[in-house]
Amino acid sequence: MAEVGTDIQKAIHFLADNVIGIPTETVYGLAANGYDAALVARIFAVKNRPTFDPLIVHTHSITAVDEFAFLTHPSLIKLAQTFWPGPLTLLLPKKDSIPELVTSGLPQVAVRIPAHPLTLGLLNNLPFPLAAPSANPFGYVSPTTAQHVIDQLGSKIPYVLDGGPCSIGLESTIVGIENNQVIVYRLGGLQIEQIEATIGKVTLKIQQHANPTAPGMLDSHYAPSKKLFAGVKAALFVAHKSEHPFIINFQHSIEDYPTELQLVLSRTGNLEEAATHLFSFLRLADQSKASIIVAEMLPEIGLGRAVNDRLRRASR
Ligand code: TXA
Ligand code: MG
Repeated sequence: MAEVGTDIQKAIHFLADNVIGIPTETVYGLAANGYDAALVARIFAVKNRPTFDPLIVHTHSITAVDEFAFLTHPSLIKLAQTFWPGPLTLLLPKKDSIPELVTSGLPQVAVRIPAHPLTLGLLNNLPFPLAAPSANPFGYVSPTTAQHVIDQLGSKIPYVLDGGPCSIGLESTIVGIENNQVIVYRLGGLQIEQIEATIGKVTLKIQQHANPTAPGMLDSHYAPSKKLFAGVKAALFVAHKSEHPFIINFQHSIEDYPTELQLVLSRTGNLEEAATHLFSFLRLADQSKASIIVAEMLPEIGLGRAVNDRLRRASR
């Protein structure tokens, strides 16, 4: 079983020849030396992830990005300066220092500076960046606590750096350039409204499938094991009441329905708070005695859009 702790030196020690769990403000990552193809291969093996689904490379500063990618587009520089460290991933032309396996052979590498003090401390003390996908088995809900990582991957890795519960709880927003236009490829912890306030209108090209190079192969993502229905709660409740579903409510619980079969994402209707709870509630719903899950969609603004995106994917 993996050891859990807050010791950066231990993390460095294990990273010499293995992969470990690391905290970020979005979700926990499964990290390895991003320059070492053999160790990166181990990430794919531990996650049971197909090698055609590329990884995000994490580093500690814009200067350090220069060692493995070209950050040259003015809009992306502006976003990097404004939102890093933070829940933003940029697709940048890669340099030769990044093995092909990291990008699944694509010419661009996904890059992020995470805003977590422990992981920034770790990155600052490493002579290489960390390739890290979310630390869940491929296709399952991302982990937002060290315990989530232990529950699913604990027997396959030596160490999880414990940074507490993730403060955002949704994966990063992925942004790149096509034909000189800024494109958002994945909704996430950085809101579209914040991006547009900084660089103007952007185009959404949200992948129906997790993998850009092999569309159609990765239908369901971020999904619990149980069947999930997402939408307008009142209608879903009428349709599924007799099946005694586990209900993930946005703001209000359902009266006269068992309290052990429902949770509320945010009693005050706060979208950020709702986002931090989403993935852990999906796990609790999965562990409950209910056989199906009903989730109420959020208002389609701010982080509500990213939450709804995850619920739509989970309900396929
Ligand atoms: O918040 C996050 O982004 C977390 C934390 C750990 O940083 N990481 C994360 O990684 O969510 P992952 O692997 O679960 O999701 C990354 C997504 C993948 O679906 C992949 O298709 C896309 O980013 N991606 C990575 N590299 C890419 C590339 N070179 N071109 C296009 N898409 C890429
Ligand atoms: Mg993932």
